[in-house]
Amino acid sequence: MAEQPATPAEAGREQCVTEALAKLDLPAKIALLSGATTWSLPAEPEIGLRPLVMSDGPAGVRGERWAPEDTAVQLPNASALAATWDPELVRTAGRLLAQEARRKGVHLLLAPTINLHRTPRAGRHFECYSEDPLLTAEIGIGLVRGVQDGGVGATIKHFVANDSETDRFTVDVQIDHRTLREIYLAPFEAIIRYASPWAVMSAYNAVNGTTMTENAALNAVLREEWGFSGVIVSDWHAARDTVRDALAGMDVAMPGPDTVYGDKLLAAVKEGVVPEPQIDRMATRVLRLAARTGALEGASVEAPYDGVVDGHALSNELAARSMVLLRNHVEPGGGPTLPLNPKGLRRVAVLGAAAAHPRTGGGGSARVFPPYRISPLQGLRDALPPGVEVSYAEGSNPRLSLPVIEGAVRAELYDDDGSLLSGADLSQASTNGLPELLGDVEVEDVRAVELSGTVDVAEPGRHVFEVRGQGRLTLIVNGKERFSGTLTLADPENPGAALLAPARKRVEMHLEPGTVSFALVKTDIDPANLEFALFSLAYSEPLPDPQRQLDEAEDLAKNADVAIVVVGTSEDVESEGFDRESLALPGTQDELVRRVASVNPRTIVVLNCGAPVLTPWREDVSGILLGWFGGQEMGAAVADVLLGVREPTGRLPTTWPDREDDAPVLATRPNYGELVYEEGVFVGYRAWERAGRTPAYCFGHGLGYTEWRYDSVAAGPGLDDTELARVRVRITNVGTRPGRDVVQVYLSAPDRADGPDRPRFWLAGFASVTAEPGDVAQADIVLPRRAAEVWTDEGWRLPPGSYQILAGASYRDIRLAAALPIT
Ligand code: BGC
Repeated sequence: MAEQPATPAEAGREQCVTEALAKLDLPAKIALLSGATTWSLPAEPEIGLRPLVMSDGPAGVRGERWAPEDTAVQLPNASALAATWDPELVRTAGRLLAQEARRKGVHLLLAPTINLHRTPRAGRHFECYSEDPLLTAEIGIGLVRGVQDGGVGATIKHFVANDSETDRFTVDVQIDHRTLREIYLAPFEAIIRYASPWAVMSAYNAVNGTTMTENAALNAVLREEWGFSGVIVSDWHAARDTVRDALAGMDVAMPGPDTVYGDKLLAAVKEGVVPEPQIDRMATRVLRLAARTGALEGASVEAPYDGVVDGHALSNELAARSMVLLRNHVEPGGGPTLPLNPKGLRRVAVLGAAAAHPRTGGGGSARVFPPYRISPLQGLRDALPPGVEVSYAEGSNPRLSLPVIEGAVRAELYDDDGSLLSGADLSQASTNGLPELLGDVEVEDVRAVELSGTVDVAEPGRHVFEVRGQGRLTLIVNGKERFSGTLTLADPENPGAALLAPARKRVEMHLEPGTVSFALVKTDIDPANLEFALFSLAYSEPLPDPQRQLDEAEDLAKNADVAIVVVGTSEDVESEGFDRESLALPGTQDELVRRVASVNPRTIVVLNCGAPVLTPWREDVSGILLGWFGGQEMGAAVADVLLGVREPTGRLPTTWPDREDDAPVLATRPNYGELVYEEGVFVGYRAWERAGRTPAYCFGHGLGYTEWRYDSVAAGPGLDDTELARVRVRITNVGTRPGRDVVQVYLSAPDRADGPDRPRFWLAGFASVTAEPGDVAQADIVLPRRAAEVWTDEGWRLPPGSYQILAGASYRDIRLAAALPIT
């Protein structure tokens, strides 16, 4: 397909782009293809081009600064958004992200992440939507439309098969063509077709032997087959080869200023290895992006949505809408445990480190700094009537790493003679924002960077500091040197390792109560590698005895009417940059739940994680609510949901295993550099069903506060050749509360010995509907033709035969069936 303007406005922008390009000579065109800084492309005042700024999503817009001083509205993590099964609601999330992007001068959002939940151990599972390509595509379409409604570009990433983190820079993912098309490329194809994102990010990994930034064949699928007219931007540091990258059509190498393009690309063009028309095509696409996003003067920006989204209210709504009620025990002779009736409560015990300090967002590039975080403890205290006594005990703290020191911290840069070059006030003991600290100072002149401040010590005892970073670091506490040494990164090849997985050194010392001063100094600054200067200091009071903590929690639980235990993963086990080694809750958290449940029959567990965890105690507790990394409003939404002010309407976008080894696809470690997707198209529930295993909680599962009866399903023909069928499902709210249900439609293929190997049934469409008690809700669902097609050596084919449409409330709760003959 050619890159044809579709509307008069687009035609106008194309005109501007053509004129702008014509004014540029070769070096100026090549300059457009590399970052000028970590987050922006260079300005070109000659043609009215402003720096085009990019920033990470997908749960908030961090902006150009990586610092808590620059806050952003924080939404729940990506899998949580997918758990709403509501693309229109997610579109509103996209509009909010666009609004935040504009506020921060960002033109291109580096989101959404549409890789798949292939294995529950994947470190960035929380940042992806689902194990199912169709759900991923629909949610991705919602987000991209929303972002671009606001005149900001969306970037679908990471193209393609970047589904785990181990050796992510070098891993060669081996996938057969059918699996690639039907599973991993499918969300990219659908989003490009239905939402026209303005950028695609190419992944670090290789697919079938070719690094994705250099993968001309797959890029041709994007451009020629799917008609993608946007920019292909490299993942950060992913571009490695000037000529191969340029010939593959990888338009922009990030981050800058040093990339494989620039002078090297100029030389390659002059030598005739890269044809100049290729540079024109690449520069055209960059200028088109600038025109679309308002970075090119004279080009009109289309922002169809000009309303204002209340970010805090939206964050609250998304948190509640995404929460999945996994279990709600019906007490013998009584009703379900949840929602709790506050009138019946006198004493509530809230337990767990995450109850007071939840993780409200995932770690790594998805990280943003929210203006505030409402913890479940705070949310419950605010929501419960004044007469209810809320007590709290930490019970168990799963964090291996200590919290970074927060408060007034001074950062100073020194030269060779020890003279002060510059200084800045920070709000935490971390140099993540070093490039900004530099200001006008030349990095070559910096010989030492120092962070200094104080901590207040309340109790005498063995206090702990944790030095994090790499290279030579010296820690001085109360004027005395306590550590001086060299820290080495475990995996220096991993891009961003200094930020994502710094080396750590714990230093314990006896301290007496009072104000204690600290200084952490780094003396080996490498001007060529600013990441080298990333370091931070964490601190903790004497660490409590784990058994004593468990006893304390049990005591509180014993005397309470209800015990609410918040448990989850920590940044040490679930984050970007590495995969998980185990799905078990870290530390003594399982023991905490067991001990609390053994003394309180009304124990409710709230899970604070972005991806599946094991719940070995699940039959022993009354309720389990998956609260995800619920964003800045998480605690308020948890309270609303537990107390029945709102219904939890999330449904699992991914299967949750009972035992870890049951998960059909688990491993993330490449063998001799290769990670073979040997399961083919059998990923997620497709694989569970084939293996005949029963998960703890299946795909699509989630309880609400009302009951639904599935009345009828009927299928009619599609309206054009992109549609397979139109399905109408009618359901009745037979409970006593207004409610929302997610009607799921699966497709089962004719059982033909000569047909392709397919799952027994798979998701083909869904709709989120509401109804008052006694009322009927009607779900009208379009099944795309792709949902039934199979990729063959001859391209897409629709195997004919008697298909069946299955409608239900989850993969394992099918209520109705209808025939769908396909000729
Ligand atoms: C991540 C990308 C991210 C980029 C910039 C990379 O390490 O893989 O998703 O957009 O960093 O932060």
